[in-house]
Amino acid sequence: MTAHLIDGKAFAAGVRARVAERAQALGVTPGLAVVLVGEDPASQVYVGSKEREARAAGFHSVVHRLPATTSQAELLALIQALNGDPAIHGILVQLPLPAGLDEDAVILAIDPAKDVDGFHPVNVGRLALGQPAPVPCTPRGCLMLLKDHLGDLSGREALVIGRSAIVGKPMAMLLLGANATVTIAHSRTKDLPAVCRRADIVVAAVGRPHFVKADWLKPGAVVIDVGINRLDPAPGEAKGRLVGDVDFEAARRVASAITPVPGGVGPMTIACLLDNTLEACLAARA
Ligand code: GUN
Repeated sequence: MTAHLIDGKAFAAGVRARVAERAQALGVTPGLAVVLVGEDPASQVYVGSKEREARAAGFHSVVHRLPATTSQAELLALIQALNGDPAIHGILVQLPLPAGLDEDAVILAIDPAKDVDGFHPVNVGRLALGQPAPVPCTPRGCLMLLKDHLGDLSGREALVIGRSAIVGKPMAMLLLGANATVTIAHSRTKDLPAVCRRADIVVAAVGRPHFVKADWLKPGAVVIDVGINRLDPAPGEAKGRLVGDVDFEAARRVASAITPVPGGVGPMTIACLLDNTLEACLAARA
């Protein structure tokens, strides 16, 4: 078997195009403010892409780039100003924050109605209760790809590997909401290969290159690889290759469908961020 490649890049382009079309028809320009503190190189790349894609969709796009020496009080003051800015419908503080800043307090300071990341405890609670809420972008993108490929997820055995607040936990909630039978595996899970072999759907979000092996997969499983890991450069390479959390080349011979890295889940995150911002703008008008 050679797995179908789930083309997140193409799917995300479709989502972005629909968002841009709806934004244009709205008569109000959706506004997205991204806050980046410090110089983390990966965060700089992600924030640059968010800024570019928001502009391309016709949004009012603002990035606040603050030095790593920014104090908690300064950061909270900026968030208060953005909460009160009627031109801004979505606020995203790029994580991780530099050491010394309190992420939980920063997330708590964001108006839940502008929390396009879906990280505020009120929105986390709403998701857990099955109530409408902005949903974290990466798991929302994963669910879209799964539903597009599989249709109804009812009764499917789904395994989420990783229990982060950004991906693993909300992913499990979304799969549960879609009536899958959900297991969350983590670093203390016993006999992960055996747990994995039961799964019709595997979502890997551990942040370790090639962690999930082909012989852990049930033949025909659908594999969503959230990992973006940069390998050390091979001789002659300036930069190491980007790889996922799944041993892709071997896994594609066992799975029925799999997301590649890059070009799978990654582009869906920004597409969902734009959609969450558009929804926040629509809700603000209602
Ligand atoms: N860092 C890595 N992923 C994310 C994300 O989805 N949102 C924010 N705010 N920071 C991140």
